[in-house]
Amino acid sequence: MPIIGMGNVMWIAVTREVSPALGDCELSYVPRTPIDAARAGRQHHDYQRALEVLGCHLVTLPAEPAWPDSVFVEDVAIVLDEVAIMTQPGALSRRAEVASVATLLRSYRPVLAIETPGTLDGGDVLRLGSTLYVGQSARSNAQGIGQLRELLASHGYTVHAVPTRGCLHLKSAVTQLNDDTLLLQPAWVDREQFAGFRIIEVDPVEPHAANVLRIGDALLMPASFPRTRQRLLDAGFEVTAVDVTELQKAEGAVTCCSLVFRAKE
Ligand code: GLY
Repeated sequence: MPIIGMGNVMWIAVTREVSPALGDCELSYVPRTPIDAARAGRQHHDYQRALEVLGCHLVTLPAEPAWPDSVFVEDVAIVLDEVAIMTQPGALSRRAEVASVATLLRSYRPVLAIETPGTLDGGDVLRLGSTLYVGQSARSNAQGIGQLRELLASHGYTVHAVPTRGCLHLKSAVTQLNDDTLLLQPAWVDREQFAGFRIIEVDPVEPHAANVLRIGDALLMPASFPRTRQRLLDAGFEVTAVDVTELQKAEGAVTCCSLVFRAKE
């Protein structure tokens, strides 16, 4: 598979194939409806192709039949330029997902870990420059956030805890569009937490639209949020849309399905 660079930047995207047990996933704020795991797998493959088109070199782990949520690899690690932190997922059913991703990431970064009683989901961690904003959610507790702060202090990162409400993760409520602009759902997180950033709000009829994956100057978002996408296009952003409706039934979105990080030179 060719490695495609964006300028002199090259991105690795770690993904894991959809588990056939996806229908048994954890759900917190989304009602349970039947999930077609095969269709989710096809949508996931389209998502993977989109990552490649946007300049990522894909590294894919095999499906794990015993771990329904394991396609959502973002939750088990935080990968920075200097180091990777393995999380301690807040849902007990997801703890077993961590080890195989840790083994893979050791090829790319030194690997550290959050330990119990700390809990932390990667979906709660939004890096904006050298500050990591971390959602205080049902999945990420004060001990986990405190451990992250200690592990990253020597690498020059600040960790800032952010209250969330009514959503699974901080990145359900806010993601980054470019260095100074965020896409935000005001019902789920206070915009005042992000002073200094320009804020674009999701369209009110698309409450789940704040989760957008940024890869360099490119943005990837679900096709099911055309009104919010239009807001981004009107603001001058380039946005690729992918159909991830079956993964959305599992309370997933576009950032959850990959760990995207800079390849070392
Ligand atoms: N189904 C995604 C999660 O709850 O972790």
